[in-house]
Amino acid sequence: MIHISSHSLTGEPLFHLRAGDASYVFCVFHGYLLHLYCGPAVGEDDLTALLVKVGHDSVVPRPADTPEGWFSLDIAPQEFPVYGTGDYRPSALMVRRADGSAATSLRYVSHEVLPGKPVLDHQPATFAAPDEADTLAVTLRDPGSGFVVRLYYTAMRALPVIIRRAAAENPSDNPVTVERIASASLDFATWMEPAELLHLWGTWGRERTIERTPLAHGTVSVSSRRGASSHHHNPFAALVAQSTTETAGPAIGLSLVYAGNFEIAADTDPFGSIRFQAGIESTDFAWRLDPGETFVTPEAVLAISGEGLGKMSRTFHRLWREHLCRGEWAERERPVLVNNWEATYFKFDSEKLLAIAKDAAACGIEMLVMDDGWFGTRNDDRSSLGDWFVNEEKLPGGLAPLVERINALGLKFGIWFEPEMISPVSKLFDAHPDWALGTVGRDRSVARSQYVLDMTRPDVRDYLFDTISGVLSSANIEYVKWDFNRNLTEAASATLPPERQGEILHRYVLGLYDLLDRITAAFPHLLLEGCSSGGGRFDPAMLYYAPQYWTSDDTDAMERLDIQLGTTMVYPCSSMSCHVSASPNHQTRRVTSFETRGHVAMGGAFGYELDLTTLTDEEKALIRHQVADYHRFYALINRGDFYRLILPGDTVNGKTGRCAAWMTVSEDRSEALVTFVVIRASIHPVYFLRLAGLDPDARYQEESTGAVYGGSTLMNAGINLTAAHKGGWTDGSSVVMHFMRV
Ligand code: DGJ
Repeated sequence: MIHISSHSLTGEPLFHLRAGDASYVFCVFHGYLLHLYCGPAVGEDDLTALLVKVGHDSVVPRPADTPEGWFSLDIAPQEFPVYGTGDYRPSALMVRRADGSAATSLRYVSHEVLPGKPVLDHQPATFAAPDEADTLAVTLRDPGSGFVVRLYYTAMRALPVIIRRAAAENPSDNPVTVERIASASLDFATWMEPAELLHLWGTWGRERTIERTPLAHGTVSVSSRRGASSHHHNPFAALVAQSTTETAGPAIGLSLVYAGNFEIAADTDPFGSIRFQAGIESTDFAWRLDPGETFVTPEAVLAISGEGLGKMSRTFHRLWREHLCRGEWAERERPVLVNNWEATYFKFDSEKLLAIAKDAAACGIEMLVMDDGWFGTRNDDRSSLGDWFVNEEKLPGGLAPLVERINALGLKFGIWFEPEMISPVSKLFDAHPDWALGTVGRDRSVARSQYVLDMTRPDVRDYLFDTISGVLSSANIEYVKWDFNRNLTEAASATLPPERQGEILHRYVLGLYDLLDRITAAFPHLLLEGCSSGGGRFDPAMLYYAPQYWTSDDTDAMERLDIQLGTTMVYPCSSMSCHVSASPNHQTRRVTSFETRGHVAMGGAFGYELDLTTLTDEEKALIRHQVADYHRFYALINRGDFYRLILPGDTVNGKTGRCAAWMTVSEDRSEALVTFVVIRASIHPVYFLRLAGLDPDARYQEESTGAVYGGSTLMNAGINLTAAHKGGWTDGSSVVMHFMRV
């Protein structure tokens, strides 16, 4: 809900946005938009007293037209700070006009309350019906140039979530260039405790590792300049107190719905104010706005928790599941699949795939996914990307006969593409060398022996749409894995004029969105899975198109504990694609039991990634059991409330890195599924686990033992797992416990 009043200092508007149990408050002060509060709900009080801060006159300039002697833009907490007029902290906007100047001042013009959430054209975004959210749009104008910025704030009614974006418009007669524009910026004037930035770093095979970095005076930030949101940093960070835990303390999560270059930063000034910003990274960004044109930023989502990280994560999970993921697969039970990548790599043919499919069908698996290597002359990773034509030496007669035989076994069929890429050794590159991104007179860098297609070009997108559609229409294909295996270099386009080359990296992302929009519209029943050398572009923008994402190429169950639990900081279980793979594991050579590999993979969209034809009867029987469990617990895992109980890096009973645990609880708290994994066993181990999210007054029965416990006992005293593993606890052993309210 949005409450608007006049405040006591100047009588100008004060906006109080109530979102779930959170408040977001800001006001107009002599035309400037100033931030007052973001956190757990506060009353409808006039909070403008928080503005008064004094700095020395010679270092903090004061606007000429405000009578208050204490007021300076360099100290005032702001909503959308601009460059060049007295605020020296990081700007939310820098725009250069035709005369070369960049000093800007944004002043309030008007505001408007809109029902629900207005649609954001041509970009992925969250959605909400009129009875689910309220949106406030505030229009600001630069008196010197007429430049206009509209800020949009959507307050979700049932969730502590504020969604922001900015639209910059050039009403002048001359072109201007936007050199920096944030999606959201807010200043915490009153963050009293030592603060930290919690973020998710990584690289190939180590995605979304949780790290907490103390804020320092100056800027602490995470970003990507790779042309994609990347493995290296996720477009998310949370501002937390040093004392914040899973269950207590402030956690303000900021997530950018964007698949490209981003920056999320926390800047601390000498007065203890923290500026928290998210937006497109500005290193190689310069967007020319011709007269009358508007630039709309990606949206940024704030998830506000006063009760620790767990609540922040659950808020993001629900928002993405219910207000971002679209299409029939968003909430639908996903098929259990087997993917042939780690089973065969490039060495397969129809007969091999059919042999795997036969075993899959016998085990209850529901879909076979044919990965890389089915097209062109691709027998390794050095050729053929772009030549999306079936290799009939591997698949005689093309896709249709293969898919028919797989369907006849009762299995769905899925296929792999890497649409945005082109191999230098390909028919496509021979025909269209200018379709690859590249700078004239400069060699193109290679990564995995491939170049990146110029997705800014409509002709490239038309080619991809036509060829991919052709393949998808040629047989009963029900799933696509959309891969992206390198980042952008020498990013220039043969079709854009010099003054627009600074737009390439953002235009690339908009081109990708356009192609994804066209494919998902043309094939509405398709289940799309995102992938980028594992989880390299696992971000909310991709989840808008693909409700599940390949979490990591590291399929080792122990490594997956870090990766999957880190991923749950922001993303729901339903979005994490997790497969049981071979042991010894192909990435780490670690040996882990089939049972534990299943327990860990069941933390997300479940499947297999190994050669089923080599398994023992006992292992196949286990698969049947795991598949049945997955279906039985599907709703609980994918729609329940998720709790991280022990992170692999936690210290438990004086030992660090020894175990991990998590659980999901049904919304009505009648049922819970708990997973406990011992990473490294010790002699005479003692394991207690405190559960979370249960009804303290209810009694719960654990299925495998029949034991009954009080909810408060399970959450406060915990459950003694010392003797819970039948064979005794060893490295990589695990248990799953199912609790039902009695
Ligand atoms: C990277 C993906 O993450 C893998 O799962 C696999 O699809 C390969 N690409 C294929 O080249």
